[in-house]
Amino acid sequence: MDDRVEELFTAARAVQAHAHAPYSGFAVGAAIRTASGRIFAGCNVENASFPEGICAEAAAIGSMVSAGETEIVEVLTIADGQQLTTCCGGCRQRIREFGGPNTPVHAAGPEGVRRTFTLGDLLPESFGPGHLAP
Ligand code: THU
Repeated sequence: MDDRVEELFTAARAVQAHAHAPYSGFAVGAAIRTASGRIFAGCNVENASFPEGICAEAAAIGSMVSAGETEIVEVLTIADGQQLTTCCGGCRQRIREFGGPNTPVHAAGPEGVRRTFTLGDLLPESFGPGHLAP
């Protein structure tokens, strides 16, 4: 892992430890690097009313926007288990709002990055803010 990806990995792993996932038992951490170079992280926060839970990526994006940032340049998610865990469909669209087709999205396990995609790989021919431009 290069230093910049390692920084994202460390941030995502740190917040994964705080995931509130008592229902699924599936703890996820996400970290975003923005155009300014800052990193924002978030974990999944589940709820006894199941549909009200939020994904780690959504939490990280909320933190980013709350800080006044709107340009995602790189994303990393981490989850446990043997399978490759990629962002869910809803989170691909959430990243799309602030990223572009070339934005790297790293899928990590506890040992490090397993695969790197672009957002365009994960969400081809996507709908985005440009479609609503006047
Ligand atoms: N989850 C995420 O936080 N991000 C993803 O991209 C995949 C799924 C969470 C949602 C839920 O709390 C748990 O993983 C099981 O679906």
